[in-house]
Amino acid sequence: MARNQTTPRIARTLKDLRRHIARYRKSGEQVALVPTMGALHEGHLTLVKVAGKKAQRVVVSIFVNPTQFAPNEDLARYPRDEAGDLEKLSSVGADLVWAPAAEEMYRPGFATRIEVKGAAEGLEGAFRPHHFGGVATVCCKLFSQVTPDVALFGEKDYQQLCVIRQMVRDLDLPLTIHGVATVRERDGLALSSRNAYLSAEERTAAPALCTAIRAVAETVAAGGRQAATIKSAIKTLEKAGFGPIDYVAVADAETLGPWELRSGRPGRVLAAAKLGATRLIDNVPIPRPKARS
Ligand code: PAJ
Repeated sequence: MARNQTTPRIARTLKDLRRHIARYRKSGEQVALVPTMGALHEGHLTLVKVAGKKAQRVVVSIFVNPTQFAPNEDLARYPRDEAGDLEKLSSVGADLVWAPAAEEMYRPGFATRIEVKGAAEGLEGAFRPHHFGGVATVCCKLFSQVTPDVALFGEKDYQQLCVIRQMVRDLDLPLTIHGVATVRERDGLALSSRNAYLSAEERTAAPALCTAIRAVAETVAAGGRQAATIKSAIKTLEKAGFGPIDYVAVADAETLGPWELRSGRPGRVLAAAKLGATRLIDNVPIPRPKARS
């Protein structure tokens, strides 16, 4: 499908957004949504490119959502570059950018919050207790504002993807969620807007996170003991300069509950750790045994 290569339109008010969506619907076009907080990199742009294969119209939301940051987190210094984002989006064929001001998203008197349990419990949920409530609430709003047929989320934030799937299932929201594999630098570091905070020395150490969880995934796939391999990964990370290490965990890829090799279910290794002042998260699939021919 040939995508248009011009600068996307921008909607800043809900009224304007709905006018654009109504126009697409009138022409019988399907709509894909890519929710983002801006400071776009190749990871986000990959989501937009995949979105272009799923629907005729691609809407990208850019909104740094205050309700998913705790007071001590990096909301104020979160990178913002709207002009740069629009330029990048013109090269990947986004049709519309939904970029509301905070007051347009959360009008005076706003008082509703969606709390997802299940997938939102444990891991990030334990270290950032308010985070997924904020994410679920803003995504639910984005879904009802844009009314997409499909919304795309990166596996980079794997628990977030599970939380969104859970919410869509539980609330019967009429859209499909599509997960996209993590885009990485050559040395394995997962692309993230927060990588910009790393010093040169930290940037050199950062790929150790991905290497460590890949090693855990391979060990447990081969029947190795989970507790021992996790302990050794934590030691390796500490040696590489990470700390504190919030978690290195082996989990069921769908429920995020415990995983055992003998279950035959898909598994995931997830980790979060600080490197200097920057908190990095990453995850990888547990390789599945190759089917015998
Ligand atoms: P943000 O961090 O901007 O990420 C937007 C989307 O890009 C998410 O689905 C995220 O998983 C995906 N993404 C980020 N880095 C990626 C990478 N290296 N490879 C593949 N996908 C990647 O996640 C959020 O924003 C917010 O929580 C949001 C869902 C927009 C709600 O506010």
